Amino acid sequence: MSNHDGSTIAAHPEEAPAAVIVLAAGAGTRMKSRTPKILHPIGGLSMIGHALGAARGVEPRALAVVVRHERDRVADHVLQLDPAAVLVDQDDVPGTGRAVQVALAALDAGGQLSGTVVVTYGDVPLLTPETLRELVAVHQGDGNAVTVLTALLEDPTGYGRIQRHDDGTVVAIVEHKDASPEQRAIREVNSGIYAFDAAVLRDALTRVDTVNAQGEMYLTDVLALARTAGGRVAAVVLADRWQVEGANDRVQLAALGAELNRRIVERWMLAGVSVVDPASTWIDTTVVLDEDVTLLPGTSLHGQTVVARDAVVGPDTSLSDVVIGEGAHVVRTHGSGARIGAGASVGPFTYLRPGTVLGEEGKIGAFYETKNVTIGRGSKLSHLGYAGDAEIGEYTNIGCGNITANYDGVNKHRTVIGSHVRTSSNTVFVAPVSVGDGAYTGAGAVVRKDVPAGSLALSIAPQRNVADWVASKRPDTAAANAAAAAQTPTGTTPSTTTEESTNA
Ligand code: UD1
Ligand code: CA
Repeated sequence: MSNHDGSTIAAHPEEAPAAVIVLAAGAGTRMKSRTPKILHPIGGLSMIGHALGAARGVEPRALAVVVRHERDRVADHVLQLDPAAVLVDQDDVPGTGRAVQVALAALDAGGQLSGTVVVTYGDVPLLTPETLRELVAVHQGDGNAVTVLTALLEDPTGYGRIQRHDDGTVVAIVEHKDASPEQRAIREVNSGIYAFDAAVLRDALTRVDTVNAQGEMYLTDVLALARTAGGRVAAVVLADRWQVEGANDRVQLAALGAELNRRIVERWMLAGVSVVDPASTWIDTTVVLDEDVTLLPGTSLHGQTVVARDAVVGPDTSLSDVVIGEGAHVVRTHGSGARIGAGASVGPFTYLRPGTVLGEEGKIGAFYETKNVTIGRGSKLSHLGYAGDAEIGEYTNIGCGNITANYDGVNKHRTVIGSHVRTSSNTVFVAPVSVGDGAYTGAGAVVRKDVPAGSLALSIAPQRNVADWVASKRPDTAAANAAAAAQTPTGTTPSTTTEESTNA
């Protein structure tokens, strides 16, 4: 730590904060959900996930999360996202002041914590690391005791109001429920996000009581106490109100989600992605897109989805954890856990399940479902089928309606098909089975035995035509009349049964 001499601070405006404390003990009952409020996702990440990301953005030496409501579920989730986070349990004393007090005690057993302590909330998902960094820079640069992030709202109802002197200096925060009508007319509100000097914060909190409209320990009382003790108290006014908005119910959650998405889509457009209809295009914060990707209307990209240059995705496509190679086309597809090679084509109406790997220039066409299948370069599964637990070589053509019968009712088995294979329509591969390179199958073949390289597999019974069956069994029907008209008037009518094989 450098000493807190003003000039030193100015030269090092962003000294790492000693800690960020994320408040997440509240109940969030207005969500009306069995899922704790801060675990609700927006932009592909829980609200607390966004908060942790912003907090880590200022590179604090410690990160504490204060929990109480649904403690175990919240704690598990936090540790999953951020194993280094310190979980702090709030006790029966209510209020944001108490939450910070218990966090300080947990981080700072010896009372020696010094430097900057940032406080933020678990339910303010649009707050960016840049905003927190700016707050810390101003706080340290100006040598403040407390710096609060504020915003000017059209409707400040419910928020704490920022009280300033005539000269503009911040004096105190008054909670809505404690405010006079004149104070309620103030439009500058407390975001609940602050940078504190650790010693000032620790000292002031020992003097915060619960004598107020809500009977809570208000963190907001620290501002007036710090000022009285001679510290500088200031505000950073944020023009972007979305960054200080929390989601208390699902209406607000959807509004924040739409705004977050609008920002993400805009960022990708400015980075070189064509988005035909931003309003119907949804992109998680975790998705990565290359320049010259095109997203058509109704496309949703989730999780660890990555799309390479010149690929075209959509319309009406939802993909989670799908990696798409350069120049590939993915049309009207629902997919997860799949890899699509460069120049490959998928869809329309295709269901890609986890473990699908399509090689370069390959194709999975209309009305196909795939799962746990590796398809080599240039191989095509063009229409109507299912391929699961299978491996297909290169430049193989799978005919219309082919199915890998991978499940025997108890176990799953693999189908292995070589390269340059040509399978005819409606082939069923009864796994475990393998088909060698360059082999063919006949239409409707049920392949139960391995097919050696270069062989033609036939399995259906020879076809038998029963002559004049219609005339004798369905006389005087339209079919019988049509058949009679088609037969030559002078021709003899064969009275015997003939057999003919179509597959030989
Ligand atoms: C608080 C501020 C208010 C500010 C508003 C911004 C106080 C006294 N008031 O009001 O000035 O305008 O936030 O949204 O600080 N929490 C705990 N433990 C508690 C109580 C709350 O961890 O005992 C957490 C909540 O989970 C939430 C955050 O603190 O993340 C804010 O709590 P909330 O009840 O929403 O505070 P407000 O009364 O709205
Ligand atoms: Ca609130």
